[in-house]
Amino acid sequence: MSDSRPIGVFDSGLGGLTVVREIFRCMPGERVIYFGDTARVPYGGRSVSAIKRFGMQDARFLLSMDIKMLIVACNTVSSVGLAHIREGVTEIPVIGVVLPGSRAAALRTAERKIGVIGTRATVGSEAYTQALHNIDNGLRVYSKACPLFVPLVEEGLIDTDFTRMVAQHYLYELVDTGIDCLILGCTHYPLLMETILATVGTRVQLLDSAFWTAKEAADILSALGARHPEHGSGFAESRFFVSDKTPNFDQVARRFLGQEIQDIETIELEDIGE
Ligand code: DGL
Repeated sequence: MSDSRPIGVFDSGLGGLTVVREIFRCMPGERVIYFGDTARVPYGGRSVSAIKRFGMQDARFLLSMDIKMLIVACNTVSSVGLAHIREGVTEIPVIGVVLPGSRAAALRTAERKIGVIGTRATVGSEAYTQALHNIDNGLRVYSKACPLFVPLVEEGLIDTDFTRMVAQHYLYELVDTGIDCLILGCTHYPLLMETILATVGTRVQLLDSAFWTAKEAADILSALGARHPEHGSGFAESRFFVSDKTPNFDQVARRFLGQEIQDIETIELEDIGE
């Protein structure tokens, strides 16, 4: 059995392309329909009700494209609005990024002390803490919001002294807790992996939710017999939508996806119900 329909992936902006990149790595034949809500990014400092509303609109847009699975690549929406989206979308599997990253961390921690970093909304929701405690109630979880990381990555300030200073500022408390695993609970943070690792030290394992989410998607599709029948380049047949083509779009998209997107389609927010 196979299913050649695409996988729908959405994010508040372009950061979710880190998840798409991992999907193409582990399932090169799969086609993706991506939506990045670039007109309204960032979601990380918004209210819970706005995040839920935006997430549902993003999900509905992708559902109109006949997808076989929905991946909520945005940590903020996954933390705050995944249950809400699942209530409204029952016809296909819906997966977020919180559980796959949490499972991977819970399996790897020897000290049973895990750090989580993300946007203010993600950390405020305590979704990672709850997911980790559902897996193992004895785990100690230390969370820290790092709101400046997103604009630093968007500006391409990846390997700079300024970024290292900001990382130091946010992460020094976490280092003192004795964590041995740190979940990168935001789409943008995998791009800061080296800076973060240099700050927390190599004895701390960094867990990239994007990688574990793509792996979980592959496992679910295989179990359902719904993998794409071909092993070819799904990328060539994928579609990428945004709600606003910002001036530095190409540059930022390349940074997250690792390759150039030829055709980017724009949709109006009115078309997704705003
Ligand atoms: N995509 C968001 C996340 O993973 C980061 C950017 C934003 O704040 O919207 O939490």
